[in-house]
Amino acid sequence: MNYLVTGGAGFIGSHIAEYLIDHGHDVTVVEYLFSGKKENIRHLFDNPHFHFVQGSITDSGLLKDTFKNADGIFHQAAIPSVPRSIENPAFETPLNIQGSIIDITEIQRMVRCAWHSRTHRRNREFM
Ligand SMILES: NC(=O)c1ccc[n+]([C@@H]2O[C@H](COP(=O)([O-])OP(=O)(O)OC[C@H]3O[C@@H](n4cnc5c(N)ncnc54)[C@H](O)[C@@H]3O)[C@@H](O)[C@H]2O)c1
Repeated sequence: MNYLVTGGAGFIGSHIAEYLIDHGHDVTVVEYLFSGKKENIRHLFDNPHFHFVQGSITDSGLLKDTFKNADGIFHQAAIPSVPRSIENPAFETPLNIQGSIIDITEIQRMVRCAWHSRTHRRNREFM
């Protein structure tokens, strides 16, 4: 399977990416490197099944491209710092919420595409 892990250089995302690679999957990490570090996933870079895309989940064009071939998404990209969200909510809130909305929109589109292609295939089999 082909998985996308947003925030894949962060604490949880890096472990998910590693687990998926260890279990024979293809993994694309979309990471802004805001708090996450390449060091967390450095050991995966030589693996041909691992792909790293530096960018933000608020970039819908980039997400469309990376979501295209994904079978599943682990959405971990966030700025999960309570003190930071209190100090600077105008910066953090849009990133967390807008990023997640774009993610969910793309997931919905992906599910619709999968549903349409399955139904279309089934219809053709009946014809
Ligand atoms: N760590 C925990 O104990 C814990 C517990 C419960 C829930 N969570 C939730 O799990 C999620 C991940 O947590 P974590 O501990 O791995 O955090 P983390 O800060 O280690 O990882 C988040 C990653 O998202 C990246 N990121 C931030 N903005 C981005 C953007 N716009 N585009 C792409 N990447 C972006 C960061 O650079 C970072 O690598 C968060 O939603 C957090 O609230 C974490």
